[in-house]
Amino acid sequence: MKFSTKLPTPSTDALQHSQQLQYKIRDVINANNGAISFRTYMEMALYEQGLGYYVAGCRKIGKSGDFMTAPEISPLFSQCLASQCIQILSEIKGDIIELGAGSGLMAVQLLLELEKQNVLPQNYYILDLSPELKQRQKKTFKQLAPHLLDRIIWLKQLPTTFNGVILGNEVLDAMPVDVFTLYKDKLFEHQVIWQDKQLMEQLNPASSTLWDAVTALKLGTMETPYTSEINLNLQGWFKALDACLTQGVVILIDYGYSASEYYHPDRNKGTLICHYQHHVNESPLSYTGLQDITANVDFTAVANAADKAGFEVLGFTTQAAFLAANQLETFFMQILEETPEKHYQLAQQVRILSLPSEMGERFKVIALGKDFLNPLNGFSLTDQRHRL
Ligand SMILES: C[S@@+](CC[C@H](N)C(=O)[O-])C[C@H]1O[C@@H](n2cnc3c(N)ncnc32)[C@H](O)[C@@H]1O
Repeated sequence: MKFSTKLPTPSTDALQHSQQLQYKIRDVINANNGAISFRTYMEMALYEQGLGYYVAGCRKIGKSGDFMTAPEISPLFSQCLASQCIQILSEIKGDIIELGAGSGLMAVQLLLELEKQNVLPQNYYILDLSPELKQRQKKTFKQLAPHLLDRIIWLKQLPTTFNGVILGNEVLDAMPVDVFTLYKDKLFEHQVIWQDKQLMEQLNPASSTLWDAVTALKLGTMETPYTSEINLNLQGWFKALDACLTQGVVILIDYGYSASEYYHPDRNKGTLICHYQHHVNESPLSYTGLQDITANVDFTAVANAADKAGFEVLGFTTQAAFLAANQLETFFMQILEETPEKHYQLAQQVRILSLPSEMGERFKVIALGKDFLNPLNGFSLTDQRHRL
């Protein structure tokens, strides 16, 4: 992944698409007295019907897209996750829901492993904010596991009642966030305006909702401007998950930190970044709808919101520790025995998933239980709940 100031130039069609979305955002800005919150901008840039980044048809995830995720790097990731699901589903009867399934590759790999171990669930549900991804996911199943397609049920909303496992890989980082700047004892909210025929960022005094939420972080006063983000959607999201889940476990994997690291005084520019064709940049108002916008996850906020909604935090650890505790080595050896020629490729995949300098420590796993208190295998090597 390259950090770039100069991005590849999109095609004329792509630029027109982006302009169409920007005009739609401009209209919303005009209807809202000339400014919208950054959160509203990010929501439209990613999810606006027919135009947003995740909703419009272009290829996002994988080598030919804008960024890579763990299931795209190696099937070992999904196999380890399958191993964790097996433990849970052997203790309670149920199915699996995957939130934000992207290309569908994790669903395929995970179900193939469950099939191998003779523990296929009756149904595998997929719920994505982007209904357009359904076609891509169907295609992935048709190509790699057509016999499993009849187990997949695409949902438009969470079921009213569910038992089992709810999974989300890199879903939290794709949620819209508010951006704020704290300077001395003043709190400013980043808003988006339309000026000189383009989108621009403007700082205004924070709304009372944002003020309350940032005050609760207890950041103190800052002698130099301190910018960061906050996800105000978490509470509502966990309430909805809680209402749906009767018994089971929610497992979320993402890049991020505990609150004390996230809001460390040195991290004074926040964590918001954009991905365009494997180039990282810090210009969320550019290429609207063509590039991904993402923020790291504050796992303390996740744990607090889940706890308030009625979940028990069952474990929190690094991706490396979670995979190792879920038989990473066994799966590695199995594939190696079947395909010894893949030795180098496999070793490289394990390195990317596990090394601290790659995904191993930057990515974390949190498990949230509902009427489920048994210790989970994934946290048997290290459990860092004390850091939350
Ligand atoms: C970064 S992609 C990750 C895709 C896939 N899980 C992977 O690992 O390759 C984020 C996905 O989460 C979806 N998403 C974001 N917020 C969501 C929500 N509240 N419920 C369900 N899906 C959501 C997006 O539409 C997108 O498909």
